Amino acid sequence: MITITKESFGKLKTGEEVSLFRMTNCCGSYIEVLDYGCTLKSICVPNRLLSPVDVCLSYDSIAEYEEQDGYLGAVVGRHANRIGNGKFELNGKKYSVACNNGPNHLHGGIRGFDKYIWQAHTDETGVSFSRLSPDGEEGYPGNLNVCVRYGWSENNELSIHYTADTDADTVINLTNHCYFNLNGGGTALEHVLWVNSHSFCENDSNCLPTGRVVDTADCPAMDFTLPKSIGRDINMDDINLKNAGGYDHNYILSERGDNFAAAMLTCPQSGIDMTVSTTLPGIQVYSANFLTERRGKNGSCYSERDAVCLETQFFPNGLACGFEPAPVLKKGDSFDETTRYSFSLV
Ligand code: GLA
Repeated sequence: MITITKESFGKLKTGEEVSLFRMTNCCGSYIEVLDYGCTLKSICVPNRLLSPVDVCLSYDSIAEYEEQDGYLGAVVGRHANRIGNGKFELNGKKYSVACNNGPNHLHGGIRGFDKYIWQAHTDETGVSFSRLSPDGEEGYPGNLNVCVRYGWSENNELSIHYTADTDADTVINLTNHCYFNLNGGGTALEHVLWVNSHSFCENDSNCLPTGRVVDTADCPAMDFTLPKSIGRDINMDDINLKNAGGYDHNYILSERGDNFAAAMLTCPQSGIDMTVSTTLPGIQVYSANFLTERRGKNGSCYSERDAVCLETQFFPNGLACGFEPAPVLKKGDSFDETTRYSFSLV
């Protein structure tokens, strides 16, 4: 049985109350989520000594969540990652969305989904968060009804189910921006990663996809078709790594859906291993290159490369690049995508 509890997590600067929900399974493993930013705050699972380890980065106070710029654990949208110059064309009409990352739009704009309190609803095995993103928000067309459900199972599987509908054709790309550290802290460079992908989207020096797709066979430093540590090749003289200051690329998944692993992350120290599966076509592998010195949970200090983000998604800058499937939701259609993170011991 999953036990769900709710408590206060303090107040925003505006005075609005933030709630924290904890979902605990029969083994005592749990996840915590906040209604602010629909944020995944903790994932507490046992290491090989059967001691609990919180495998995601977080902050202790709501004030730190409000001040941060790293999107820790948040659901980002309406469009995750970058849209070049904040411009796209849909049904022959040109749209401009807010630019908040150099010349580009990033993670939904100035006030993206990560900066709102969502409406919470609990059921037997999970918590659903919903919000209405009004027509014109950050420049996007259409009133978009979004719902994100976090589920937690008896065997330590976290599921994130994204659904949405709109009253006008719009752009959509939802992901969760959790920073994983399967050792509970310190560098993540020794984590071993495998990705079910043979190609990735080339980026320019602003981490914006150019439209070119590169075969990982031609780029050994970028290749995760065989498991290797994040740190093994990260400092290699490779233009893709130099441009992004590490890994920060969309990998094109070879297989998708519940029956396929999209990626596997293993921590040799703790023995914790995480398998990701998703219905989405891509995954952003981000080695937390922009996570510069800052205070994290329990008085710890987070530095660059202390975590790995595995953000399942549509390909960034997809409309301008002509990537398929396009990150578009049409009026009358339903957006319905699921990503699962399953934790076990090696
Ligand atoms: C994503 C991007 C990164 C960075 C982080 C947030 O993963 O791809 O370039 O912007 O979000 O810091």
